[in-house]
Amino acid sequence: MAAAVSKSTIKSYSKVNLYLEVVNQRKDGYHNLRTLFARINLTDSIFLKTRLDDNLIKIKCNHPRVPLDQRNLCFRSARLLQQEFNLKQGLEISINKRVPVAAGLGGGSGNAAAVLRGLNKLWGLKLSTKKLVALAKQIGSDVAFFIYQEKFAQGFLRGDKIRLLKQLKSLKLWFVIILPGINVSTPLIFRQWDKYSSKKQPGKNGILRKNSRLTGLTIPEHDVKMLTSELKVRGRNVRPEFLFNGLEPVTTQLYPEARRAKSALINEGLNRVLMSGSGPAVFAICSSRIQAKRISKKIQNKYTTWQVYCVSSI
Ligand code: C5P
Repeated sequence: MAAAVSKSTIKSYSKVNLYLEVVNQRKDGYHNLRTLFARINLTDSIFLKTRLDDNLIKIKCNHPRVPLDQRNLCFRSARLLQQEFNLKQGLEISINKRVPVAAGLGGGSGNAAAVLRGLNKLWGLKLSTKKLVALAKQIGSDVAFFIYQEKFAQGFLRGDKIRLLKQLKSLKLWFVIILPGINVSTPLIFRQWDKYSSKKQPGKNGILRKNSRLTGLTIPEHDVKMLTSELKVRGRNVRPEFLFNGLEPVTTQLYPEARRAKSALINEGLNRVLMSGSGPAVFAICSSRIQAKRISKKIQNKYTTWQVYCVSSI
């Protein structure tokens, strides 16, 4: 297939989960989830350039922890398109990372979606959103969300069955996000969740047993649909108890620094505070951009080993 243009630069977004309920473990080892994604304007940029002389995929990245081989989700996205459509051209990918790696913010998944969307244009593939989503699901659970250009969405099954929340289109949330200086392995957190949860006889909603050794692992008071209505009605004034992350007790027990980051936000008077994904990033919903800017600066000055971001939904 002839390439219309041979280069392009794409913005790659990240997300926070305003709700994340682990329903149960699946036969394939993954977990069924109920989640609510908010896309945020903490972005990477990805430069793509077609290689016409061979079909190699070469990656460069400014971040030392990002793998440059087939473990890289951008690599896998490009390879999948090459294989699926029997393409002969190769690709150079240059990733300028700002989104922290292994943070719970979906940075790698955002990159994969950006490559799928970018190559769809660059290589003139004319794939529908439905087809791009089907490909995205083969790369990772969070990739499907980023294929849609939407601010808010619910995710079900592996988190890859997406229901767009167009009714929240006009909602703009301001966040302070803290990445305490640790990285978390998502598979490890899910394995720990399995260990502490009632796998054989899940309670209501499949949520962790009351007698779990971890504290605070109670059944959520609300669900993802109720949070959606709450956001529609109250916006940034959403009642704090509607926010939920079933992985948070697991991660904060393993990594106390994530708990300290939460406390730092709470100590600033913020009460809509939650961990994102499998962590360790934690965030607070602020009442305004000015508040988010002020508090993020203050926390960054106090805790110099943490990365603190002031971002909004986009
Ligand atoms: O799909 P993705 O590659 O992002 O998932 C990373 C890891 O997180 C999986 O290998 C799995 O261990 C865990 N996971 C899960 N259930 C999900 C999503 C992720 O168990 N729904």
